[in-house]
Amino acid sequence: MSTATTIAPETATTAANIRPSRQAPPATLVIFGAGGDLTKRLVVPALYHLVQAGKLADEFAVIGVDRNDQTTEQWRQSLTAMMQASAQAAGIDTEAWSWLSHRMHYMRGNFTEPETFSQLKRLLAERLKQSNTGNVLFYLATAARFFGPVIEQLGRAGLTQQSAGAWRRVIVEKPFGHDLASAQALNAWILKFLSEDQIYRIDHFLGKETVQNILVLRFANGIFEPLWNRDHVDHVQITVAEMVGVEGRGRFYETTGALRDMVPNHLFQLLAMIGMEPPISFDADVVRAKKTELFQAIHPVVPENVVRGQYGAGVLLGRSVLDYRHEPNVAPDSATETYVALKLGIDNWRWAGVPFYLRTGKRLSARTTEIAVQFRRAPYALFRDTPVERLPANILTLRIQPDEGLSVSFSAKRPGSEIEIDGVAMDFAYRDYFEPVEAVGYETLIFDCLIGDATLFQRADTVEAAWRAVQGLLDSWAHDPANDFPNYAAGGSGPEAADRLLARDGNAWLPIRADHPHTVIRPEFGAPNTVKGTP
Ligand code: BG6
Repeated sequence: MSTATTIAPETATTAANIRPSRQAPPATLVIFGAGGDLTKRLVVPALYHLVQAGKLADEFAVIGVDRNDQTTEQWRQSLTAMMQASAQAAGIDTEAWSWLSHRMHYMRGNFTEPETFSQLKRLLAERLKQSNTGNVLFYLATAARFFGPVIEQLGRAGLTQQSAGAWRRVIVEKPFGHDLASAQALNAWILKFLSEDQIYRIDHFLGKETVQNILVLRFANGIFEPLWNRDHVDHVQITVAEMVGVEGRGRFYETTGALRDMVPNHLFQLLAMIGMEPPISFDADVVRAKKTELFQAIHPVVPENVVRGQYGAGVLLGRSVLDYRHEPNVAPDSATETYVALKLGIDNWRWAGVPFYLRTGKRLSARTTEIAVQFRRAPYALFRDTPVERLPANILTLRIQPDEGLSVSFSAKRPGSEIEIDGVAMDFAYRDYFEPVEAVGYETLIFDCLIGDATLFQRADTVEAAWRAVQGLLDSWAHDPANDFPNYAAGGSGPEAADRLLARDGNAWLPIRADHPHTVIRPEFGAPNTVKGTP
């Protein structure tokens, strides 16, 4: 349905502009892993966007630490080349880039050697003298095995100690542990050197605008929340489908797999936004407590409610692609899953009895992340002559990426003398209402750390509750490797067993598709239904 039936785009823009714009306090950002992919692809571009938005203070500076022997000038040049390449024809905003690059300094160092940290301490002390900036944000953009050691060295060097006008915070990247025990051990280790409010555990899905919008959708609108429970919701589907394979990360992925890589972190974040109880404020601890409670209420996942898959060779966008077992650094008989679908139950008053179906996989037919909330069907006495499967349920679909927006499907009468029911949809697309903002998804996250807002970050107990929910499954898989891999073709929609998982409950996955024409979900509605009689 056309957007003309909803509020005017001008109104939406005005509402968006009410958000106060503020600048982060002066600080030094120290990036461990300055030469790595994450720094190049996400952290530095996010900083550049923050500069463009005027969010960084004049006294802001970056110190990049890594093992490579290079000068500050060489580091700046390699980042400039990378920024230019990614901006392509549009070119970079030279003023913003020069503002940022002149504040970037490189320091060669080893993440486990005390000498690196004494040197860093000297640099930070010099900065304090020159610019009176004692606030420091340490960003661990390193391999996970360095998280504990770097924090330990920071602590031993006295770099985690805070004083008035000099806060110290640490961003820890994903993966935070590879199971419950390792997450608990890592938490215990780093909490020896930092207090919980100094730790910012990132899940980059929370940096996505559309994920943050779920809370606004639920709690700033009067129409959704009254329906948001087991009386009205039939089931929820959460899909994170990717077209990419393992992208040269075979070594990491072999010991990780789709479950660990995506479920207790990214998919659970989406689950939390959809399923959590309303927080009483947006205070970080209030929101995080609600999320943790939701994870604690997840019924332990049992293998019978899970389907795992691994992609075989196939065709994607007209191009032949290899099977997972032929990816670099992958074992020829690998039992690592590249797809997982689960049925979850949440044992609380709001959701008991409502299945939450989650699925994620690599090399699927389209790249799409979406959440579909399917409402209970209407009682159909009035439409008795209509086959029930053709009286469609209402579905609220939240499209997280790439086509950001949401749609509501419902039944409508086709114009004419007989009652013919057809499935129609109202659609909201971000692009129709809001100016696109250039972002890589890390802008809000970095800015929030600088202003000390931990709402979008994981607390120790949240991370552990998420691992606890899947630990039984990890244990059971450890003793029972899959023996039917590969079991789906690259370019498809995943293993057939995933369809049976829902069919058992009389449900079906929505198709995996990236394009969302404004009248969505028609194919599932089938042909119009004719009901005898006149209205
Ligand atoms: C990462 C996973 O955390 O998230 C990757 O390790 C995955 O395997 C990626 O591809 C997905 O993130 P996005 O933002 O591209 O959807």
